[in-house]
Amino acid sequence: MTERSMHSADNSVASVVRQLLRDETHAEHVRLNQHPLLRGITRSDYSMAMYRLVLVAYHHFYRVVESAIDRSLSSLTISFSYEPRRKLQWIAEDLEKLGIDPQDSHFFTASPLASLPVLNVGQLVGLLYTVEGSSLGGQVISRHLATHHGLTPANGARFFYGYGERIPEFWREFERFMDTTLIDDEAISCATDSAKKTFAMMESILDGCHAQQAN
Ligand code: HEM
Repeated sequence: MTERSMHSADNSVASVVRQLLRDETHAEHVRLNQHPLLRGITRSDYSMAMYRLVLVAYHHFYRVVESAIDRSLSSLTISFSYEPRRKLQWIAEDLEKLGIDPQDSHFFTASPLASLPVLNVGQLVGLLYTVEGSSLGGQVISRHLATHHGLTPANGARFFYGYGERIPEFWREFERFMDTTLIDDEAISCATDSAKKTFAMMESILDGCHAQQAN
């Protein structure tokens, strides 16, 4: 047990950095859960029209985010492979299965997103916290999509299935990575700021798709 870890309720060791990021972004997470496109996603009356818009929004988000992750990792000397965690291809697969072109202006008219700059270590870890953490919620969403809509990894819900049974293992590895990289106040502050910005970016893309649906 180090000063960077502590026992959580189930007596496993939880990362202090993770607890901090979770507390700091709690309000942003709640806001996203209540977004008009997401708030009913675990319910039986959630519409496939909404689900299609969510996939289009996520496609735009991950296109920008994964490009920033790739460029940032190649400029840094940290040992982390994003390769097994890549998600854009899963969303592209889902869109194809459902016959949707994410560039179709019917789904998304907001001005194209500017690309993100190359990030420093703290900023990169904060962004990764948001996207990797969302896979924890993804497993809950995945179960409901299967139960209520018959959506499985094979027919349009590959993204929300994520790492499947390996989610806990991928998350533990990511927590260790956060603990070894966010080692001073400066890095932690950059990570917190970046995690919040990443949540805000997701919200603004969802808004763009939702506005289009209302037209
Ligand atoms: C309606 C949509 C969503 C639902 C129902 C949901 C649900 C959840 C749940 C149940 C957890 C906790 C899982 C666990 O501890 O095992 C979680 C964690 C998390 N979610 Fe979401 N989520 C949603 C959307 C999002 C989105 C869009 C993002 C960001 C892009 C996000 C980011 C996160 C993060 C970062 C965590 C980890 C928090 C921590 O450190 O424990 N979530 N979500």
